Amino acid sequence: MTISVLGTGNMGKALVKQAAAYTGGRVLWGSRNPGEAAELARSFGLADQVEVVTYEEALQADIIIPAFPAAAILDWALTHQEKIKHKIIVDISNPFNEDFSGFTTQWGESSAERLQSILPESKVIGAFKNTFFKVFENPVFEDQKSDVLVTGDDEEAVSQFIEIFKPLPFRFIHAGKLANNRTIERFTLLELELAVRYGTYPYISLQLFGIKEAVPAS
Ligand SMILES: NC(=O)c1ccc[n+]([C@@H]2O[C@H](COP(=O)([O-])OP(=O)(O)OC[C@H]3O[C@@H](n4cnc5c(N)ncnc54)[C@H](OP(=O)(O)O)[C@@H]3O)[C@@H](O)[C@H]2O)c1
Repeated sequence: MTISVLGTGNMGKALVKQAAAYTGGRVLWGSRNPGEAAELARSFGLADQVEVVTYEEALQADIIIPAFPAAAILDWALTHQEKIKHKIIVDISNPFNEDFSGFTTQWGESSAERLQSILPESKVIGAFKNTFFKVFENPVFEDQKSDVLVTGDDEEAVSQFIEIFKPLPFRFIHAGKLANNRTIERFTLLELELAVRYGTYPYISLQLFGIKEAVPAS
């Protein structure tokens, strides 16, 4: 199984470290500037575990995580529709507007659904939307793992994603259909407000109370 992380921003760095450390798969790291990404990989001690590639080369992976701003993901998807057919595309985006006062999506839509509609033959999974980048450095808070809500309209793809990512030090929760991202994405903006109010920004994520198993029995 090959996983590619696209982008060397806050989330790209965090996700590539986790994928290399825990998934056991081949990990590709794509960037507009592979030279700088290679330097970063060396500085993280990942030179032997991660293959730095162009965005084009990163499309060969089975699971692709575009860690771009939400609008850039849509442009990327429109350009590569054909090449990423049938693959699992992990959407981590929150479609905030420029001043973080609201969203670029309307009520009743989510960026995950928007992406799936552009990529009808790919399997879009929503994940990590509520996990702020700093949390990846320490996903366990007061003895409880950070939760990651995993959504998707293709059940097999959701199960496959959870199976591959469950060694990471997070608790992965099957959170239903992609339409649930209408709530999940909006909740992230509330988290941001709370993190600022309580002085923890950018360390904030979800920990849900009452769920024992990450994957429901049926
Ligand atoms: N930051 C968080 O805590 C957080 C939490 C949950 C979800 N998210 C979501 O994760 C995604 C990435 O967020 P981030 O904070 O990692 O962003 P970021 O730090 O701004 O990094 C974005 C990266 O995307 C790549 N990129 C490709 N096309 C781009 C374009 N047209 N404009 C700008 N960057 C482009 C760049 O990497 P290269 O230069 O290497 O190509 C850039 O470093 C967003 O969709 C965000 O909503 C973020």
